[in-house]
Amino acid sequence: MNMKTIVTIVGARPQFVKAAPVSRALSSVFKEILIHTGQHYDYGMSEVFFSEMEMRPPDFNLGIGGGSHGEQTGRMLIELEKVFNAVKPDCVMVYGDTNSTLAGALTAAKMQIPLAHVEAGLRSYNRSMPEEINRVLTDHASDLLFCPTQTAVQNLSSEGIRRGIHQVGDVMYDALLHNLALARQKNAILRDLKLGKGQYALATVHRAANTDDRQRMSAILDALGRLSLPVVFPVHPRARKMMGEWGIPAGGNIILIEPVGHFDMLTLQENANCILTDSGGVQKEAYLVGVRCITLREETEWVETVSAGWNSLAGVNKEKIVALFETWFPTQERKLLYGDGHSSEKITRILVEFLK
Ligand code: UD1
Repeated sequence: MNMKTIVTIVGARPQFVKAAPVSRALSSVFKEILIHTGQHYDYGMSEVFFSEMEMRPPDFNLGIGGGSHGEQTGRMLIELEKVFNAVKPDCVMVYGDTNSTLAGALTAAKMQIPLAHVEAGLRSYNRSMPEEINRVLTDHASDLLFCPTQTAVQNLSSEGIRRGIHQVGDVMYDALLHNLALARQKNAILRDLKLGKGQYALATVHRAANTDDRQRMSAILDALGRLSLPVVFPVHPRARKMMGEWGIPAGGNIILIEPVGHFDMLTLQENANCILTDSGGVQKEAYLVGVRCITLREETEWVETVSAGWNSLAGVNKEKIVALFETWFPTQERKLLYGDGHSSEKITRILVEFLK
């Protein structure tokens, strides 16, 4: 019997992490063709993830990094259409909320190829975020919507999407269970930084609303510099560019480092006293490894982490960030919010049924 062909589209750092466990599960029943749009292209933002996750190199790399949103997305559409014409996929899979997600979704929808969205139904209800537009449009074009949480299912339902929805849990939890064990064996970053468990905070900032706004970025760095512990801050290329352009200093105890691979990141997360971030994935990983998280945004898609008492929204309010850091410590037990670690297998089984 001929194997059905699934085309997987990735492009940005978190998508390499999410696609890895799903690819492993798909490999026994499908032929998978992996397309990297090239949205992230630095070694430390892309290749290191492929080698750590033991993913085979992409079958196609479109080399589309940088540029404005329209230019980036438009060039992806042109190139994806060519590849889809050549490989004739039975289904296209996209992940999360980036420009690569939207480009994959639009191309599949226009070519009437069944579309599956992993991490469907997430909403911040902030339409000024490019990611929010990407999520909404992708969900409305999808045939299969793999939701990580009940909240995500409800969000879709309130937008009138009721077909093709499957609550499967979160593939990032699958990924975490697999990678944390490896990270614990392999890692040396804490030794290199001369830091021990609980002796530092970890910060990441990459959302355009923060990095591209001088006042917000200055407020974040100012607050981080006032914390009573050293702050390890792996700097995303977008943040580095803007900090350089504006000459925003990183004072106090801030330790600026290059973006780190996934194993180093997991080690830094698991051993931190506190995580301060504007990333969605990092908020969730903080919860999963049991570290308190201060979110440098006004709202979050991962609302369960807040109601569970492990995540606090501080925006870029300096006083609030410092006060939370010094005085707020979660007390509630952590429940399993993101599935049972077998989301990838569930997705595979649903795809098999769907493509019969
Ligand atoms: C993108 C996603 C965001 C995701 C994030 C993960 C969109 C709209 N945003 O944001 O949802 O959470 O990835 O990191 O898709 N750059 C480099 N080297 C790289 C990658 C990027 O220098 O390897 C530069 C780009 O040229 C650009 C800037 O960083 O100037 C931003 O990159 P871009 O891919 O537009 O978006 P991210 O900010 O990474």
